[in-house]
Amino acid sequence: MTEKYHETDPMSDVISDDYRILQIISRFGIKLGFGDQSVAATCRAAGVDVSTFLTVVNYVKDPAHARISEMAEQVDVPALIAYLKNSHNYFVDFRLPGIRRKLLEAIDLSSGNRIAMLILRFYDEYAQEVSRHMTFENEHVHPFVETLLQGRLPQESFRSIEEQYDEQHAGIEKSLSELKSIIVKYYPSDNSAQLMGEVLMDIFMTDEDLHSHCHMEDTLFAECIRRLEHEVRLQGGQVADEQPQEEKNDNLTSDISEREKEIIVQVAKGLSNKEIAEALFISVNTVMTHRRNISRKLQIRSAAGFTIYAIANGLVSLDDVQL
Ligand SMILES: [Fe+2]
Ligand SMILES: [Fe+2]
Repeated sequence: MTEKYHETDPMSDVISDDYRILQIISRFGIKLGFGDQSVAATCRAAGVDVSTFLTVVNYVKDPAHARISEMAEQVDVPALIAYLKNSHNYFVDFRLPGIRRKLLEAIDLSSGNRIAMLILRFYDEYAQEVSRHMTFENEHVHPFVETLLQGRLPQESFRSIEEQYDEQHAGIEKSLSELKSIIVKYYPSDNSAQLMGEVLMDIFMTDEDLHSHCHMEDTLFAECIRRLEHEVRLQGGQVADEQPQEEKNDNLTSDISEREKEIIVQVAKGLSNKEIAEALFISVNTVMTHRRNISRKLQIRSAAGFTIYAIANGLVSLDDVQL
């Protein structure tokens, strides 16, 4: 692996190296003021999955050389979805309205400048296009993935969603580059040139940020979804028995499936999620889904609790576990 950033790096060094990471930490819900703490310590203190955070920052740093397949292995999909949702809120509720305010300041609508009016209209249409797309992701793509995370196959395939996804991303990028081009080429220079220059800078930066966001969805996130879908498909009817659907509150302890027992045994033996995934030929996400289900059924969350359950129920002997 040739990733640039590692969990032992001080978080402040990572940010000094690339200011764009400031935006990433805020979208993960990490606050500033972490002193000399490492990436891992900072993430843990904020309740953020370290591996997902590192994967995202390493991806943003060098998307051209990102090893998507390996990176997808490192991602906790719910953590990535939370990050993407926060990014959507940032763009729709903060960034795009902020640019509009500056744009209004820069263009003199009272002068009857028709180009200025057109630019504003074009911008509003663009902002609506972004907002529609992000609503589509929040309301269709993310719930699709959440269904897969529960071990169920949604009615449509990811391939059918992916086409819309790609089209919308391409549409957004095209609209923004048109807007930039219209302003640069046709906006008549007047005494608000400095303000307009500022707006243009904001638009260029947003373009870069949005491009990186969409590209990550098209590559890394899409790969995570494909893997999950493949996994759920592979498990077919068998998984349906082990449905991670919302469990009723009755029968909490009696419904541990054979697959879940295998997971409990591996946890009791001290294996990590990645090692369990390799041992059972399933993905890390599937292991995590099983662990969540087991936790819900048994009301046990810690590895130590899993170990005690495994011993008490004769799933492992004392010699097999790490005490
Ligand atoms: Fe998105
Ligand atoms: Fe998107």
